[in-house]
Amino acid sequence: MRLISAAAVVPLLISCSESAAPPSQEPSGRQPAGWSDAIALVEAEDSNPNPDIVEVQLTAKIAPVEISAGRVVDLWTYNGSVPGPLIRAKKGDRVIVHFENQLPEASTIHWHGLRIPAEMDGVPHHSQPEVSTGGQFTYDFVVSDAGLFWYHPHFSSAAQVGFGLYAPFLVEDPAETIDADELIVVLSDVELDEDDVLSEPTEGGDLATLFGREGNVVLVNGKNHPKITVRAGAPQRWRIVNAAKSRYFYVDFAGHSFRTIGVDGGRLPSAIDGDKLLLIPGQRAEVLLTPQRAGELRWIPYDRGYGSTEFRDPENILTVALSSDEPFVAQPVEPKMAIIEPRSIENATPVQLTLTRGTNPEGKLVMGINGVPSWEAPPIHARVGETQVWTVENAIEWSHPFHLHGFFFQELDDNFQPVQPLAWRDTIDVPVMSTRRIAVRFDERPGMWMFHCHVLDHADAGMMGMVHLTP
Ligand code: C2O
Ligand code: CU
Repeated sequence: MRLISAAAVVPLLISCSESAAPPSQEPSGRQPAGWSDAIALVEAEDSNPNPDIVEVQLTAKIAPVEISAGRVVDLWTYNGSVPGPLIRAKKGDRVIVHFENQLPEASTIHWHGLRIPAEMDGVPHHSQPEVSTGGQFTYDFVVSDAGLFWYHPHFSSAAQVGFGLYAPFLVEDPAETIDADELIVVLSDVELDEDDVLSEPTEGGDLATLFGREGNVVLVNGKNHPKITVRAGAPQRWRIVNAAKSRYFYVDFAGHSFRTIGVDGGRLPSAIDGDKLLLIPGQRAEVLLTPQRAGELRWIPYDRGYGSTEFRDPENILTVALSSDEPFVAQPVEPKMAIIEPRSIENATPVQLTLTRGTNPEGKLVMGINGVPSWEAPPIHARVGETQVWTVENAIEWSHPFHLHGFFFQELDDNFQPVQPLAWRDTIDVPVMSTRRIAVRFDERPGMWMFHCHVLDHADAGMMGMVHLTP
């Protein structure tokens, strides 16, 4: 979209000025026309004329979606698309979302990562009543942080997210503009049977719940193994979210390196370079990538516990072809990095959380925290202004992407020192049989706040809890 506007501006510049800007100073538009059309996202339509208010309509409904040429499947959608429409706002904007539920069951929308009031957070019974079939709810909040966020239901989450209900939410800050072409990449998967019909979300029983059900069809912006065509040497800024309900996305691209400049809660103070990139369910990354040759973005099996890598091969998930354009000679891209202060943990309240599993008297699997499933667990108490250090211990044979609603935290190492580079996150991996620590300060937004494993099968089986934040 950005590309089209830049292309439209250039001829205009040339016609009204003798000295058009040299190509190296063009902010964008270096890619061939239509380079990313195959994975174009639907954008939410803003019906509010006020430039500081984004007002959109989201209707959850079952609709046919084309996941690859000629392959159309019925999925659960927002406004008929998977992913749902991209909501694009500026830092500080007010966002109003008119949600209507046309699904055969109740739903809600949770705004993953956004620091909004608890009543807008989309957790049934705690933030709002569930929205039943035919019902409506209006979300209304201000977005105070720049970054890539996302939205998804918080009712029967494993099933509904797995069926296609998720979408990106980009909050832009003009100060973070980069001289690179932008791509928003939503990674996910879906489980389809041999007739291309959505599989039962309980298929495979307790063992599949423990493993965390992955879909058998990987989707990149809702497409199975799509292809984009780029110009060699032209830098790209990828904003990526893992919206899958269980799958870890560990990816590489044709021997190139990824430069990560931002994570869940926005920019980092310094970049992280690597030839592979890991995004666990719920996480986001802002990444610079400059394709020099054609190749495949590859999913690589990642060890997230028993059975996650055995007999599995890497899979090509996005083809990147090169156009015949002359390679672009890019100036080094120098994004403005963030200043992040380490969170002071003086006088912080320690909280111990152990991620557990067991069986109920009927012999059925229950997952939980500190030995009890969410429906039996007392809330953690916190006061506005309080800092807590949570020690999250994983006592089982599968990894857990641990997510806290509504607040960013910093990760601490075993000596309670902040992990470098400092970062604001809302989701971190707690690997098999290991312990992670986070420091969180609860700001002026009292209410009930949820935390849980973002392998949504685990969450639904009881691995969730609540913080009761009081003034
Ligand atoms: Cu994406 Cu309860 O979270
Ligand atoms: Cu888990």
